[in-house]
Amino acid sequence: MDATYNLSGGFKPTIKRFADLDGPDFFPTPPWATYALIDNEKFSGDIWESACGDGAMSRVLAETGRPVRSSDLHNRGFGEVGIDFLTAPHRADNIVTNPPYNSAEGFVVAGVEKARHKFALLLRLAFLEGANRANTIFSRNPPNRVWVFSERITFYPSGAVQKGTGTTAYAWFVWDKNSTGSELKWLKPGYRAKYLRLK
Ligand SMILES: C[S@@+](CC[C@H](N)C(=O)[O-])C[C@H]1O[C@@H](n2cnc3c(N)ncnc32)[C@H](O)[C@@H]1O
Repeated sequence: MDATYNLSGGFKPTIKRFADLDGPDFFPTPPWATYALIDNEKFSGDIWESACGDGAMSRVLAETGRPVRSSDLHNRGFGEVGIDFLTAPHRADNIVTNPPYNSAEGFVVAGVEKARHKFALLLRLAFLEGANRANTIFSRNPPNRVWVFSERITFYPSGAVQKGTGTTAYAWFVWDKNSTGSELKWLKPGYRAKYLRLK
């Protein structure tokens, strides 16, 4: 059976990323979602994909021509294994990733500290809300740009049959040491179709 269709045991007309709330949460990012970032944000220096999974995001980031370092806490068959981003002592010019759902807040705190230039996280748009985050992240260190996807991203567990469309809105949250203020921006529709051949 298609593992993405297990919500409450019934078949669904649409699917959503059923986050592995207590686990390592491995959902590769469709390439088009990373192209949307690198088409709109320029990077100087190296880029660290710090929760790289099977390299879905790293491979697109390499197209910037910048050196890309890839690591993950778990062995997904790609990059350096066993590096916990939350406690790693490493730094990088830029850090870009799609973090595990259950430690997104920790990734924000660690990434803002470890990135010299830009830190970009792919997160649910709903990450913007919540009293706790308002008191911690957004009042102290808000992102400089939030790029809202006008198209839905569908996340599938690695190897799952791909069908249906996503129901959750996502955005790129960018902290940029060379910017001040916070800007809300919209990604133009069309990335999904343009890069569909790459899945
Ligand atoms: C949602 S997946 C995204 C994978 C990849 N970034 C992508 O976009 O295709 C999250 C990844 O974070 C990894 N991970 C979980 N906790 C981590 C941690 N503390 N440090 C580094 N990686 C972690 C998981 O093993 C998983 O591969």
